[in-house]
Amino acid sequence: MSEANPLIGGEAVKIDDTELDRIIGEEFESDKENLIMILQAIQRKFNYLPPPTLTYVSEKLGITLSQIYGVATFYSTFSLEPRGKNIISICLGTACHVRGGERVRERIEESLCIHDGETTEDRRFTLESVRCIGCCSLGPVVRINEDIHGRISSDAVGKILNQYD
Ligand code: FES
Repeated sequence: MSEANPLIGGEAVKIDDTELDRIIGEEFESDKENLIMILQAIQRKFNYLPPPTLTYVSEKLGITLSQIYGVATFYSTFSLEPRGKNIISICLGTACHVRGGERVRERIEESLCIHDGETTEDRRFTLESVRCIGCCSLGPVVRINEDIHGRISSDAVGKILNQYD
């Protein structure tokens, strides 16, 4: 068991080396060619890339830590900061923008007391703006985790957020 003790969902969790071994060794055969998929799997588990896990991956795959950080910072889908249990992606692409996406974003920011790119103190939500999530006819669109909420008004924001623990 690692000494590391990152936060997830507002609670401290232990990094279980057994689980990392399963991801690195069994799922991806300790193959450095699979680095991106390994990082994706770790992020799915923790909702971000805790630094101790990157050190562990570095040791297991024989890749320098700076190379791993290079990959982790190159792709915007990876986060090195703790993120909320629920990821809100507000679309600010053209179709959603002209249909009121900005007003929806402002209402989410007011409701959660955070700004774009931030996480609530209780780590319940992270808000991220995106440029088109592929369902423009439903704009304005908000994706929360895997759920798509289309044609939403700013007045509906509170009700939608209340659906998520
Ligand atoms: S612009 Fe928002 S889904 Fe395409």
